[in-house]
Amino acid sequence: MATMPKLDLLDRCAPDEGTSAFCEDVLSGLSQRQKAIPARWFYDLVGSELFEDITRLPEYYPTRTEVGLLKTHCGDVAGLIGEGRVVVEFGSGSSLKTPHLLRQVIPSAYVPIDISGEFLLQSNADLAQLLPDLPIYPVEADFTKAVALPSALRGSAMLGFFPGSTIGNLAPFAATDLLRSMRDTLGHGSWLLIGIDRVKPIDRLIAAYDDAQGVTAQFNLNLLHRINRELGADIPVDDFHHVARWNPSASRIEMHLEAQRDVAFQVEDRLFFMRDGETIHTENSHKYTEQSARALLSAGGWTPRQVWTDAREDFLLILAEAETIPLAP
Ligand code: AVJ
Repeated sequence: MATMPKLDLLDRCAPDEGTSAFCEDVLSGLSQRQKAIPARWFYDLVGSELFEDITRLPEYYPTRTEVGLLKTHCGDVAGLIGEGRVVVEFGSGSSLKTPHLLRQVIPSAYVPIDISGEFLLQSNADLAQLLPDLPIYPVEADFTKAVALPSALRGSAMLGFFPGSTIGNLAPFAATDLLRSMRDTLGHGSWLLIGIDRVKPIDRLIAAYDDAQGVTAQFNLNLLHRINRELGADIPVDDFHHVARWNPSASRIEMHLEAQRDVAFQVEDRLFFMRDGETIHTENSHKYTEQSARALLSAGGWTPRQVWTDAREDFLLILAEAETIPLAP
């Protein structure tokens, strides 16, 4: 049989919107020479719970380190940018981190932006309990493109919040695009508070992404279970292994799912084969130095004004101001 044209391949995907996007990413990702599936598909209900477990692992330093930085320095943030800003959070607000910021910067409103309406509802309910007087304007949108904020807030001074080193999922060129979109969303005179994970000794990085209890392995393998559950596939999950490796030239941790023998499986009637040792690339987590983080922000149109780090120098919390475009060189 001749090779299947790509459109035909995607025609196999279910018509309902959420499943179809997942199906398309899986089928096209598995058709590449280096098989790859975008990391955003980790976060179904099971995956989100496993990620919560990851954040509590002894080896996974980023979450507790960032929370510590927020507790200590959001008062300084308030001093630098003033009260009454509209706080715009990119990604579903973690009930762990956001309250530390909101309590200290005294915002006039809070705008969580997330692609998943379900996660938005959940995080809002938690926050409304903690901060009953704060007006919340949830926006269901894809924040990789400029987002139209609620008209009631137009013209207000904004503070963007992008914690968790989520920026690290993107290669620098895509991270730059995202930072520029955020600048378009927030507008002139806005600020951005962003968390970025630092380069550090490789053994600590690997341990953070390949923990002793195997929770990260479960998190990674859940992607295959999810494909089986939602797309009626028959991937032999037990024949795959979680792998975390450091890519020094790209300065990133990569997660892969490695076949432990030659395997064959079908997804939506399409057959796939993998050789013993072949991998599906499932996540990148880029790590930055203070210098490379500053360079990234500048390239994205944000001027770093203050950089905080913890005693172990594991994580960066950076407050940056939207660059105004100068008339002269
Ligand atoms: C949510 C993307 C920041 O890269 O550290 C944790 C996701 N993956 N362990 C990260 C993740 C495996 C996490 N981010």
